[in-house]
Amino acid sequence: MHINTVNTQPYNDQKPGTSGLRKKVAVFQQPNYLENYIQATFDCMGDYAGQPIVVGGDGRFYNRPAIQVIIKIAAANGCRQLLIGHNGLLSTPAVSHLIRKHQAFGGFILSASHNPGGPDKDFGIKFNIASGSAAPEQLTDAIFARTKKIDHYFYASFDDIDLNNIQHLQIDNLTISIINTVTDYAQLMTEIFDFKLLKEVIKSKSLSLCFDAMHAVTGPYAQHILESVLGAPSGSVINAIPLEDFGGCHPDPNLTQTRRLTALMFSENAPVFGAASDGDGDRNLILGNNFYVTPSDSLAIMAANAQLIPGYHQGLSGVARSMPTSQAVDRVAQYLEIPCYETPTGWKFFGNLLDAKKITLCGEESFGSSSDHVREKDGLWAVLFWLNLIARKNKSVKEIVYEHWHKFGRNIYSRHDYEALDLILATTVFKQLRDKLSTLPNKEINGYVISDTDEFTYHDPIDGSHSKNQGLRIRFKDGSRIVYRLSGTGTVGATLRIYIERFTQDATQFDTDPQIALAPLIAIAEKLCEIKKKTGLTKPDVIT
Ligand code: G1P
Ligand code: ZN
Repeated sequence: MHINTVNTQPYNDQKPGTSGLRKKVAVFQQPNYLENYIQATFDCMGDYAGQPIVVGGDGRFYNRPAIQVIIKIAAANGCRQLLIGHNGLLSTPAVSHLIRKHQAFGGFILSASHNPGGPDKDFGIKFNIASGSAAPEQLTDAIFARTKKIDHYFYASFDDIDLNNIQHLQIDNLTISIINTVTDYAQLMTEIFDFKLLKEVIKSKSLSLCFDAMHAVTGPYAQHILESVLGAPSGSVINAIPLEDFGGCHPDPNLTQTRRLTALMFSENAPVFGAASDGDGDRNLILGNNFYVTPSDSLAIMAANAQLIPGYHQGLSGVARSMPTSQAVDRVAQYLEIPCYETPTGWKFFGNLLDAKKITLCGEESFGSSSDHVREKDGLWAVLFWLNLIARKNKSVKEIVYEHWHKFGRNIYSRHDYEALDLILATTVFKQLRDKLSTLPNKEINGYVISDTDEFTYHDPIDGSHSKNQGLRIRFKDGSRIVYRLSGTGTVGATLRIYIERFTQDATQFDTDPQIALAPLIAIAEKLCEIKKKTGLTKPDVIT
């Protein structure tokens, strides 16, 4: 193969965020933009020559051209083996699993997760390391530093690789394997969950379900696992065909974006179980017949019931949640007498704890949960976990949640997002709140007394690293909490996230809508940062 050295100029905006480098497609399409980033990644990776590298994405617009660029740059940089998903498709958890299973050096995931796709929408790229985890901050910082200096990249000349056929190709020293998107991941799921039981209850029709793949990457996985293997009737998986623009929708599994699924689940004909996943298959939305499960509750319920699942019957070594996630799982950990870790937002912070076997389960309020089976959050894993739980307990989703609240109490919880704010305005709002944090303790607002405030810094107990500026926290004497963060994944302006939480053991409050139960705290949250006054907005863009 002929290897070209191509001169280039650095871009100064290639700093990876919460989850890789995420930009508008048009930004990635600038001359050498993607090439610079890939070459910078190869420059910082270390010795990869002897090990495979996994490549796949969520099928969004620019997925295929980006894979061709990665192939050419990998080849030119001396990579010997590439494992690439059929049609360029691999979910994020599947990439994590493939890296681990094939002892790969790492993997590239092409996705902007739940952000919309299409020529004028978003694209993204993430690099995961040999453990299957997203690159740690030291590596992403090194890549960013490299992108600011890069002046050339290496590019091999050969025809584009056909991604549509499962095959092995040899180009000089490089083996390219186009592998089945689903097989390895599906096999892993059979090793964790009770597929025999699931087949029985699905066949008996006592467990009916609807899964919304949102025209994203989980379509092929869900059709194979839920319909072909477990025997759910054909059509149980909706929006199953991956499309480059996700059918014009946001592949974000929340109640707003999953209209068809939600309409069904809140109707008279609702099946027992409903679920959805996002663009790259790492998020999950869990619904029951006329019932919605808050992600923080889902994590706590999974932790409390893990021993019913074959893969976890020996119990959990510990659990972890991101800081803004509700403290419901903390109560379960206390009950089980296992440690509970509080990490910054972003899955990468769980990696060290999982590698060190300090935790078995972990999750975030943002519709993400997973276990030590991979090093990413995993949407279909959560779906199968709930299905297995329903089958084992022979109870509805709502019954399982209420049973949990009666035992542990309810952490009433909501997140309010103000999206695409003017960057300067949003940072000013945030800074002003930060500046007054120390003056707040002991103040009483709307009958709530503030006990303490801080800005969260994480001290990683495994590698000793410190991550600062991970969110502003306001705690109240009754245990309630308000958290503020600026999003690290948006591509337009800034997004302010406000997380509100209150605990109750009063069963008469179990039926109350969180927006009503939290109304006084929500008013305090808005007042403290003056978001409405300063932006002129009247309500959040998204409430979950
Ligand atoms: C968001 C979520 C976070 C999640 C990340 C990637 O990040 O809040 O929990 O890990 O997407 O899926 P944010 O935009 O808040 O930085
Ligand atoms: Zn995702």
